[in-house]
Amino acid sequence: MWTKKALHNLIEEKLQNHQLIVVANREPYIHRFAGDQVECIKPASGMTTALDPILQACGGTWVAHGSGNADRHSVDTKNQVRVPPENPSYTLRRVWLTKKQEQGYYYGLANEGLWPLCHVAFTRPTFNPADWEIYREVNQLFAKAVLEDANDKPAFVFIQDYHFALLPRMLKMANPNLIVAQFWHIPWPNREIMRVFPWGEEMLDGLLGNDLLGFHLRHHCQNFLDTVDRAIEAKVDQENSQITCGGKLTVVRPFPISIDYDAHVELAQTAKVENEMARWRLRIGLKDKLLGIGIERLDYTKGIPERLRAIDYFLEHNAEYRERLVFVQIAVPSRAHIPQYQRLDEEVDRITEQINWKWSTDDWRPILLLKEHHNQIEMIALHRLANFCIVSSLHDGMNLVAKEHVASRCDEDGVLILSQFTGTARELTDALLVNPYSMEAMADAIRLALELPESERCKRMQKMRAAVANNNIYRWAGKVFSALVRFDFPEDV
Ligand code: F6P
Repeated sequence: MWTKKALHNLIEEKLQNHQLIVVANREPYIHRFAGDQVECIKPASGMTTALDPILQACGGTWVAHGSGNADRHSVDTKNQVRVPPENPSYTLRRVWLTKKQEQGYYYGLANEGLWPLCHVAFTRPTFNPADWEIYREVNQLFAKAVLEDANDKPAFVFIQDYHFALLPRMLKMANPNLIVAQFWHIPWPNREIMRVFPWGEEMLDGLLGNDLLGFHLRHHCQNFLDTVDRAIEAKVDQENSQITCGGKLTVVRPFPISIDYDAHVELAQTAKVENEMARWRLRIGLKDKLLGIGIERLDYTKGIPERLRAIDYFLEHNAEYRERLVFVQIAVPSRAHIPQYQRLDEEVDRITEQINWKWSTDDWRPILLLKEHHNQIEMIALHRLANFCIVSSLHDGMNLVAKEHVASRCDEDGVLILSQFTGTARELTDALLVNPYSMEAMADAIRLALELPESERCKRMQKMRAAVANNNIYRWAGKVFSALVRFDFPEDV
């Protein structure tokens, strides 16, 4: 089993004098004002939840956009703060962006362009030349911060996601001795889709600055190789999954990401979680009712309207469950300045209102929609209370909520209804796998989830827990770092 300690030892031994610098747009800890106090919160992001334990295990620096309104008050003169607050073990370095930069790079190019382009969720991407200019400028800003931190000393730079497609090349040009890897946390679509991106050549050239480029699935690696093969002058070695461009080699590999399973399980068994479960019971009015849950950012890739319509359909066709089933949907507000997200927000409100109006009785309301941020304890408590959890993404690179559900279920009960269009579906084959576009299939899965015998639920949950326990976040990081320094991966550490 890979543990925090095993990863720590591996890094000590193999990375030796190299410092680790992680770059991600989203910071793992956000400081914000709450009245005249400053509070520190963790954002709703699978990526930060996954990476934070790795940095805690290995030390190093995380370079990110300082997005909290109290972030500037919490850093030193080098824009750094040690985190996590309760047990400082690594450095968070904040990069400041103007509103115009945040608009062009984050909202514009990254989230109105690349996000809908890479997810096949039928939301049309838009590409604005001014945003591409700003995206380039912000990548340069991050390059400057990384180079300052590396200070000409040996370093591994581990870049996260689609916000930084140009950064690898910028870093390599400035300092060829840096070892640079990137993990693309979202799908890489097929080359027909990628063709429409107006600055494809520049983006691919940027990404080929990496020594190692990782995706969740082999299928996404294959799509990337095909895209490069078609779009630019490069030698694509399909057999070894690597590309040579301008004499420089980039190795392309699948690394399915995960969570800190052991820490999650430990937390799930605490009294804090049990107290929170009691609070949820009261808030939901649970008593003898059955509970279904959905937890995610309010994002059109997550299939929230599809899931709510499936619940409506389920109630329509399964009269015996009326007044018995409550569905709690946590939808954390996200990217709210983008029109598609505003429309989704309205749509989710409208559908919820329609369903509740149609089915509610004096003492039952089928849907409880909570558009608010919840901490980890609150979410684990909800996972533990649920009869089933629905993850109905229309397309998702991995989806860590599914893995969190499984890890939360220390009672080995509960059922996961999981979209077959998530990366997670390849690992959690004991979930009830569904096509989220099919209302009927989703309603059937809800019924099955409520009627599976306890022994069957337990058998499935045990298998899924074993899969997540084995493929935990330390294994993911161990594989990435091993591939990076090109030594053999010790399978049985
Ligand atoms: O996993 C994809 C991702 O975009 C992460 O990079 C990000 O932190 C998460 O989803 C949440 O999105 P955002 O950071 O835009 O709130």
